[in-house]
Amino acid sequence: MEARQPIPMRIWQWLDERYQLTSLMNALLHVVIPSNARTFYFGGITLFFFGVQAITGTLLAIYYQPTPDTAYDSILFIMNQVRFGWLIRSIHAWSANFMILFCVFHLLRVFFQGAYKKPREVTWMMGVALLGLTLAFGFTGYLLPWDQRAYWATTVGSEIAGAVPAVGKDLLMFLRAGTDITARTLSRFFGMHVLMLPLTLAAALVIHITLVHQTGLADPDRDVTAGDGEGNKAAPEPEAKPKKLLPFFPNYVLDEVIAWYVMLGLLIILVSLVPAGLEAPADPLRTPEHTKPEWYFLFLYQALKVVPRIVGIMLPILGGVFLLLLPFIDRNPNASPRRRPIAVTLGVLVMIGIIVFTIWGWRA
Ligand code: HEM
Repeated sequence: MEARQPIPMRIWQWLDERYQLTSLMNALLHVVIPSNARTFYFGGITLFFFGVQAITGTLLAIYYQPTPDTAYDSILFIMNQVRFGWLIRSIHAWSANFMILFCVFHLLRVFFQGAYKKPREVTWMMGVALLGLTLAFGFTGYLLPWDQRAYWATTVGSEIAGAVPAVGKDLLMFLRAGTDITARTLSRFFGMHVLMLPLTLAAALVIHITLVHQTGLADPDRDVTAGDGEGNKAAPEPEAKPKKLLPFFPNYVLDEVIAWYVMLGLLIILVSLVPAGLEAPADPLRTPEHTKPEWYFLFLYQALKVVPRIVGIMLPILGGVFLLLLPFIDRNPNASPRRRPIAVTLGVLVMIGIIVFTIWGWRA
């Protein structure tokens, strides 16, 4: 007599017979990647933190109340009355910072390995959009606790947006839902933070990952213009097939899961040592002595203090457009950093500039 299959297998077979799930799984998982693809798992780690944000954010939204009269107290309630509320809030706060940090690490590794070049131009552009959305998550989330820091950082941040030439006034009105930061601003930020941004980011992410799946991961050792050794470059060729391949599933996926596990451990340690804090309730009539934005906007904040305002505002906007169009501006078909001295030098200089301004802003 044939042995009966375990229940999960029988459910799988039942679904598979009807929806051809095996062929879908094969198409998604049973692909190969270059064995030397050095991604450092940064993209996947960013994805992990987004997942953590979605889960912890949903739990917080069960208790959070987005009005100026109730927001602050609802945060106090989450921290003091809800079981593990402090833990969930702290994980949400730390994981937000890590999501931004690893998104930047991911961008840097893609940049230095030249993985934004043909055929991955659109993947890169979707990535830049994802970074913008991730920063917008940080900006909108900051106001929600409705404490002094939240209120005044948003005041300063939206003032900066208001100074953008031509569209600044409209941008400020759009962000604040009026001229001042009021109950309407809070509910607008809440709507953006829990609905608009997650839906847009999830949609952009599906496109990003689908494109990565379709092109496969870049082989960092590929170089399309080897040349003849006498300074004559060979004509660019389509990307050659990598020499050694590795199964994406289970090999790569398993390493990725280990990286996620390490990140989870790090999160738990950090939230236990430094739980998320809360300042005094927001008071529109009492300006605090120092209002500083989060670390990822510090370079901008410091730049605005030391360069003419218009330069400090236009530079990041033009920088963002440059970043978006990078695959079309940088026409050098080589991938190896050694064969891209201009791009690499520029990238290093920008990085040093941002780090210096961030430290300066932090110490000021
Ligand atoms: C929410 C943010 C993001 C998530 C969750 C994400 C996720 C991923 C994942 C899982 C991969 C494949 C594995 C890896 O490279 O680690 C990937 C590849 C890629 N990502 Fe992202 N990404 C994000 C943002 C960005 C940004 C900011 C950029 C650059 C501006 C970018 C550009 C790319 C490119 C070009 C690839 C293909 C790399 C290759 O073929 O080697 N992504 N992304």
